[in-house]
Amino acid sequence: MRGIILAGGSGTRLRPLTSVHSKQLLPVYDKPMIYYPLSVLMHTGIREILLISGPEHVDTYRSLLGDGSRLGIHLRYAVQEEPRGIAEALVLGGSFTRGEPVCLILGDNIFYGHRLPELLRREAGHLDGCTLFGYPVSDPERYGVATVDDTGTIVGLTEKPARPASNLAVTGLYMYDGTATERAAALAPSDRGELEITDLNLGYVREGRARLVNLGRGSAWFDTGTHDSLLEAAMFVQVLEKRQGIRISCLEEIAYRMGYVDKERLALLGKELSASSGYGRYVMELAAT
Ligand code: TTP
Repeated sequence: MRGIILAGGSGTRLRPLTSVHSKQLLPVYDKPMIYYPLSVLMHTGIREILLISGPEHVDTYRSLLGDGSRLGIHLRYAVQEEPRGIAEALVLGGSFTRGEPVCLILGDNIFYGHRLPELLRREAGHLDGCTLFGYPVSDPERYGVATVDDTGTIVGLTEKPARPASNLAVTGLYMYDGTATERAAALAPSDRGELEITDLNLGYVREGRARLVNLGRGSAWFDTGTHDSLLEAAMFVQVLEKRQGIRISCLEEIAYRMGYVDKERLALLGKELSASSGYGRYVMELAAT
């Protein structure tokens, strides 16, 4: 399975923070936002990753993450000229995925859960059609909302419903079989001129080949699109990290634990980050244990 991170968009709700910066490079406590979705793909065991961003920001991502080799992964970059919809990521990524299954994640979505890596690896292993990930929320009318039968097959999917049929919001993490690019390319733009991810998903729903996995109470999901949700996500990370003395979504640690880099490389990565940063010290200490 290949991975795509979509990190474009206009970030209008976060202005002026996003007047010159890419939203997905803003800090979420101790690391840039993009680290979180990248950590999800790495935890899923995906090492071939395409990062898509707008023309004005793509080089900044390249400077930050390079070709991924320092983390033992392969990163490539593509440009989305205008925010023409989430489903466009699959069209832009067509020559990268080349008909292979793909995991698409939005660059502003943060997931955390004790069992999440295991769950994602399992889902990637028995993908048939598409798998979406639902999260129970108190305000489902703000999201895409799914209804499922008792086998987990999605039977209904509505974008921002006035009267939500369930409290399961569809999160920004999607797994698709090898037909996703073809399907996305055949979509007509919506009234707002976007290739809608819900339209792509509805194609699979109509065929009875869309599954919803409920991430449930044991995990946390944040989308960081507003000032409040950005701060809440940062506070969540801070509390968890301080309380437990760990760092979450630390790419260097994940690369090491996944076996992509050895201890020597890990020590080097820590040194590059500098001992004057708490994050850097954490990586150095991990390498010294
Ligand atoms: P949104 O939150 O829908 O849009 P946005 O990030 O542009 O923010 P705002 O509503 O404040 O203007 O997008 C969800 C994610 O998908 C976000 O990470 C941006 C990304 N995205 C793209 O990269 N390209 C697109 O064409 C769209 C629609 C979204």
